[in-house]
Amino acid sequence: MTRAIEIVEVGPRDGLQNDPANLTTEQKLEFIARLEAAGVTRMESGSFVSPRAVPKMADSPAVFAGLDRTRHTKHIALALNEKGVRRAIEAGASEINFVLVAGEGFGTRNQGMRPMESAEALIHSAPLVHEAGIPLSATISVAFGDPYDGEVDVEILKDLAHAAERARATELALGDTIGVATPWEVHARFDAVRATAPDLCLRAHFHDTRGAGLANVYAAIQSGVDIIDASCGGIGGCPFAPAATGNVATEDVVYMLHRAGFETGIDLDAMIETAKWLEGVLGHGISSALSKAGTFPPRR
Ligand code: COA
Ligand code: ZN
Repeated sequence: MTRAIEIVEVGPRDGLQNDPANLTTEQKLEFIARLEAAGVTRMESGSFVSPRAVPKMADSPAVFAGLDRTRHTKHIALALNEKGVRRAIEAGASEINFVLVAGEGFGTRNQGMRPMESAEALIHSAPLVHEAGIPLSATISVAFGDPYDGEVDVEILKDLAHAAERARATELALGDTIGVATPWEVHARFDAVRATAPDLCLRAHFHDTRGAGLANVYAAIQSGVDIIDASCGGIGGCPFAPAATGNVATEDVVYMLHRAGFETGIDLDAMIETAKWLEGVLGHGISSALSKAGTFPPRR
């Protein structure tokens, strides 16, 4: 029996928010269209945060206005506060992904909130999302470690998961914003969150900063997670995380999963082509392995 794994492409948001390149709105829309042509059906297409905090996402309203709505792709908007939720709904987001934070050091710098303040902000903003009739998901950032405070207690994750339940979010991601997770910790944290909040769908969000990205994807899937965030080319990172690097690369994750018999609905060759196109547009090298090595077995 084949198991389907849903890939949530985060390149247009997490990928581009911290890249040195400044893509035009038209180039972002072409990136999104290429991802859709490669089979992506759900992606983070922008974020509705302070343009002073993240200038590269300042044109997200224009990006959402330019989306091809005939394709029925789920275009997720990232938001961290009520103002962001309102702006995202107005822009026609198909879904809101709200950012919770597990560490105080990162939380105060990234979004001016401590962990439980981010939980309150979610609970406060959630009714707007439900009134708009679109799905609400949440991502716990720095869920495996905080760049300023160090280790993050798993109890915080449980408290935040309960807040996500109270807000009637349907899905919760554990985000390794700074790439410090190990496969064993992935098992432990997903199992703990599932045990405390069994009705939430779980999603995994890994950055490959310290070389464990794909191993962590494997561990999450072994822990029963069916939804994986990834970014084309492996680009990206958070401007508020020191030495941040990109997400696990979509083409590397898809390659590994297809080799093992999982289904993702993504055309691997088209994703590799998109990564190569992106490399040209960005004007610098990208980190993914498949964009360099190509797929296997060789195409005849
Ligand atoms: N969209 C646009 N502008 C926003 C905003 C939003 N969602 N939320 C707040 N602002 C504006 C306010 O209107 C205010 O503008 P003004 O100075 O012109 O009056 C300014 O930002 C500061 O607002 P304030 O409520 O005092 O927030 P803050 O300074 O504590 O910043 C955030 C909080 C969340 C707005 C800010 O930290 C932020 O946008 N962070 C984003 C971080 C991020 O995206 N990281 C990567 C993804 S995890
Ligand atoms: Zn991220």
